[in-house]
Amino acid sequence: MKSSSLLVAREVTKVFGGHRAVDGVSFVLERGCIGGLIGPNGAGKTTLFNCLAGHLAPTSGSIELDGVPIAGAPPSRVFAAGLARTFQIPRPFPQMTVLENVMLAPPHQLGERFWANWLQPRAVAAQERRTQEAARHWLDFVGLSALAQQPASVLSGGQRKLLELARVMVAEPRLVLLDEPGAGVNPALLDQIVDKVAALNRQGTTFLVIEHNMDLVMSLCRPVMVMAQGRLLVQGEPDTVLRDPRVVEAYLGDAA
Ligand SMILES: Nc1ncnc2c1ncn2[C@@H]1O[C@H](COP(=O)(O)OP(=O)(O)OP(=O)(O)O)[C@@H](O)[C@H]1O
Ligand SMILES: [Mg+2]
Repeated sequence: MKSSSLLVAREVTKVFGGHRAVDGVSFVLERGCIGGLIGPNGAGKTTLFNCLAGHLAPTSGSIELDGVPIAGAPPSRVFAAGLARTFQIPRPFPQMTVLENVMLAPPHQLGERFWANWLQPRAVAAQERRTQEAARHWLDFVGLSALAQQPASVLSGGQRKLLELARVMVAEPRLVLLDEPGAGVNPALLDQIVDKVAALNRQGTTFLVIEHNMDLVMSLCRPVMVMAQGRLLVQGEPDTVLRDPRVVEAYLGDAA
């Protein structure tokens, strides 16, 4: 039987020239949840995501996805293992169409292997068709179908967040890390993103979401983890966590 823990981090630390951006962070993310990760600016949230997704090798500590060690593995390996992430500032390729941007991500693309084009041209073509179908499906899911053939440069900030969601979903990940899905998004689009994430979660995708918008966190995330100055302060139910004096102080300290 599969363990209920999907992601296990133990004592994850990332040091930048003496500064402990992530400082001994340990947590367990249960399969099927939408976990929240909050904390003041500079707390180390994105750096922790970078360590989890392979964009940075932690200085020390271990990370397991479904029992498989992934700390220090390159992003492509972590991605192939089922963990996909979106970026705090999405940077789609502006000249490529919206559809082409979504088609960039799937794992094990045969066509990218040099010899495959000669040895298995039909398999490559069939896979490209499947990828395109999947990309169209996810564009439709996030409501961007009408813009599929437009260059990505026409998208608003909120639409870029939706494009990112479609892009990661093409790979059918087990775990999706969202870095501030609500930042720069107007309220109507924000509701859409919340609905999409909740729907995907009901279908079995686990999420971990960094977010400053507390309404979004309260309505979507359970449990909530709070980071400040590289450390994990508390975790639990959103309303309990937000009333915790240590959390209040971390935010007030940031505002001072
Ligand atoms: N590549 C890097 N090199 C050096 N320092 C870095 C690097 N990336 C992040 N830092 C530092 O690490 C700390 C944590 O940054 P991080 O971006 O993880 O914070 P965050 O919690 O995501 O903040 P925000 O809410 O503003 O996005 C900050 O002090 C930042 O300046
Ligand atoms: Mg950040």
